[in-house]
Amino acid sequence: MTVILGIDIGGSGIKGAPVDTATGQLVAERRRIPTPEGAAPDDVKAVVAELVAHFGLPGPVGVTFPGIVQRGHTLSAANVHKDWIGLNADALFTEATGHDVFLINDADAAGLAEARFGAGVDQSGTVLVLTFGTGIGSALIHDGVLVPNTELGHLWLRDKHAETWASDRARERDDLNWKQWSKRACTYLQHLELLFSPELFIIGGGISKKAEKWQPHLKLERSRVVPAQLLNEAGIVGAAMMAAGHLAPAKPSRSAKKV
Ligand code: BGC
Repeated sequence: MTVILGIDIGGSGIKGAPVDTATGQLVAERRRIPTPEGAAPDDVKAVVAELVAHFGLPGPVGVTFPGIVQRGHTLSAANVHKDWIGLNADALFTEATGHDVFLINDADAAGLAEARFGAGVDQSGTVLVLTFGTGIGSALIHDGVLVPNTELGHLWLRDKHAETWASDRARERDDLNWKQWSKRACTYLQHLELLFSPELFIIGGGISKKAEKWQPHLKLERSRVVPAQLLNEAGIVGAAMMAAGHLAPAKPSRSAKKV
């Protein structure tokens, strides 16, 4: 059994748990620490180091980030501190924890976990996993293989980024009922269906727990739409899977410099 620590950095909480990467099960209780105000790199680094020390597991650690992650660098920061942009966050976390840290975009991690252990199990062809929260995250998976950093929440729709109009935060901000929000989400999904023709959309993020509110209103012509199954564990599980080598990227250089 390979047990790897997965850590999910979110807008309100940073959560970690050891994961059996063969089954996707958490093998100890999840620990959550509130995200420090402003989510600046040094403050987040301290929380990640605290979680690593708390679990005391040997071996690599998988960490998610809510922005573009390429070769260990964080290259966008829509909903976190702008100092992340261009940072070698992989090196920052590796230095702070003394463990080999592997970074992955949060929605990509959730997508990997759902495809392997959740709502996408045994689904061939194209699957789009969308996480609705503060922003909209996306993971594009074809025959089980992830195409990373698709950032479809930033698709331009109605003169705005889709996430500013159809995220869960937009639902709360604009005081929409579920039917009104589903209408927006449906417009967005219809556009994605036209562009990607996925067999399946998996809807994740906090709203996956309230599927009965939106599922009746979210119907598409060609693609099936289902709620995610791993709920708020998907990021942790996907991060651990990636660190376990399911998606081992080439390690970047080790100094925490901006590119
Ligand atoms: C970011 C994505 C992220 C998503 C969900 C978006 O604003 O650009 O990288 O996956 O939010 O956190």
